[in-house]
Amino acid sequence: MFYITTAIDYPNGKPHIGHAYEKILADVITRYQRFQGIEAHFLTGVDQHGQKMVKTAEAEGVNVATIAKRNTKGFIKLWEKLNVQYDGWAETTDDQHKTCVQAILTDLKEKGALYKKSYAGFYSVRQEQFLTDRDRNDAGEFGPEWGEVIEIEEENWYFKLSDHADWLKSTVQSDELKIIPEFRKTEVLNAAARAGETDLCISRPKDRLAWGIPLPFDPDFVTYVWFDALINYLSFAGYRKPDGSALPDFKTLWPADLQIIGKDILVPAHAIYWPCMLHAMGFEASEMPTLLVHGFWNVRGDKMSKSLGNIIDPDDLAEQFGPETLRYYLCRDIRSGKDSDFDAERLIMLFNTELANDLGNLLNRSINMTKGFCQSTISSTATDDPEDLALRQSLQKTTSAYRHAMDHYELSEALQAINDHVTHCNGYLERHKPWEMKKDETLLPRVGEVLSHTAESCAHLALLLRPILPQASEKILSQLKKENLADLKLDDLKWGLLEAGHQTGKPKPVFPRIQLEEK
Ligand code: ME8
Ligand code: MG
Repeated sequence: MFYITTAIDYPNGKPHIGHAYEKILADVITRYQRFQGIEAHFLTGVDQHGQKMVKTAEAEGVNVATIAKRNTKGFIKLWEKLNVQYDGWAETTDDQHKTCVQAILTDLKEKGALYKKSYAGFYSVRQEQFLTDRDRNDAGEFGPEWGEVIEIEEENWYFKLSDHADWLKSTVQSDELKIIPEFRKTEVLNAAARAGETDLCISRPKDRLAWGIPLPFDPDFVTYVWFDALINYLSFAGYRKPDGSALPDFKTLWPADLQIIGKDILVPAHAIYWPCMLHAMGFEASEMPTLLVHGFWNVRGDKMSKSLGNIIDPDDLAEQFGPETLRYYLCRDIRSGKDSDFDAERLIMLFNTELANDLGNLLNRSINMTKGFCQSTISSTATDDPEDLALRQSLQKTTSAYRHAMDHYELSEALQAINDHVTHCNGYLERHKPWEMKKDETLLPRVGEVLSHTAESCAHLALLLRPILPQASEKILSQLKKENLADLKLDDLKWGLLEAGHQTGKPKPVFPRIQLEEK
């Protein structure tokens, strides 16, 4: 079972474009696994505890539980709209989760992995963490990224992170904890080298923060937000039910094949705390998840932020351009863990050129001319014309490049591979000009062969596109009258999906051009 998770989002407002990207990425990868015939389980959800939620609630003058519920609904509605189909939904206020976190804490305490001590130091309210001198900037100050920094002294519970520092280093080095893309590994190794220096504070006094899971052995404290949130990957996979038993499920799911996160929560949360927590619980190096780390969507080079007022709302974009236009853009315009700039003009341009003009036109011409010149009937495509052979070769090249890219989670490259064959097919039509050929009746059999090559290509392209654009894919297959191909697996994509004599349907634009109103 391919077990895939994403970060769980803070529902302290509406979902933004970064949230949407990550969930779409996970949805596409899940659908791609199924396309290969691999069973998959996709878990996502929301991280409802912590200071951030309390602040939001205070600002709005509403109870924090109410805000968490209300905003969570906004996330769920967006995932429905964007056709993000998850199998498991994690809410950290859920009892299943709370009892699991408490059971793990009890265990770790019994194993001697936790201790209580008093600590005085600087604390970032925004980041909800104690700061060290390492967090000061060149001027020796705590920079604005930490928000309000206060000096406090308090007792707290600590997790002996340092016990696992050497183990962590070797586990990252050996790729047993695998990090994709490779260039992020250096950052993790640097951080792992320092993991022996300090332990992790895992509690907050209840009088400072009541919105959290109480420590089972010291109810004056609640669990630190990361210790709570990270455990969702286990609790919602059936680990440690209240009676102490694990669901049989858990064994088939764990270790997670892919945990998709943004670059900001790699170090220290997912690459340092999380593996050390797992190791302390008794998981071995071979039971570590693989981390897929994506970059950020920025706006004109700036980070999105409430203060800059430049937050991009995926819900608005889906309303304006359609959910699949947004899915296409978010998969197409960012690469291999790098940052990208969100640009609505590029969204329109990429849709209009690659989908409306290129693929849309190919599909429309193929079906329209097959209807007009060939009574909607497919001819044999077992031909040996060199142009036909080159087209079939182009499709083969596209399919294998697509597979390679998808296997490496390079969605933009997979789409490029698809577009390469679209370009080849459009060139093939331009060279043959079936609209001219059909004027000579003796050439009609050849017209049928030519159009059948492009129609056959459209069937393949629809299937390759399916993980990214499930609805458009369905529409294409339906116009080809081949809805039954929808469940075909990648390995079974062979030339000849449309057999000679097959009747295709009526053309109808799948990607109508986005028209911009003139100002
Ligand atoms: O960090 N572009 O929640 P979150 C791309 N609750 N991705 C972005 C982004 C952007 N501009 N901004 C944020 C949290 N993200 C914790 C996670 S996991 C156990 C707990 C990504 O709502 C971010 O990197 O701040 C993270 O992966 C996800 O969105 C949720 O961010
Ligand atoms: Mg697995």
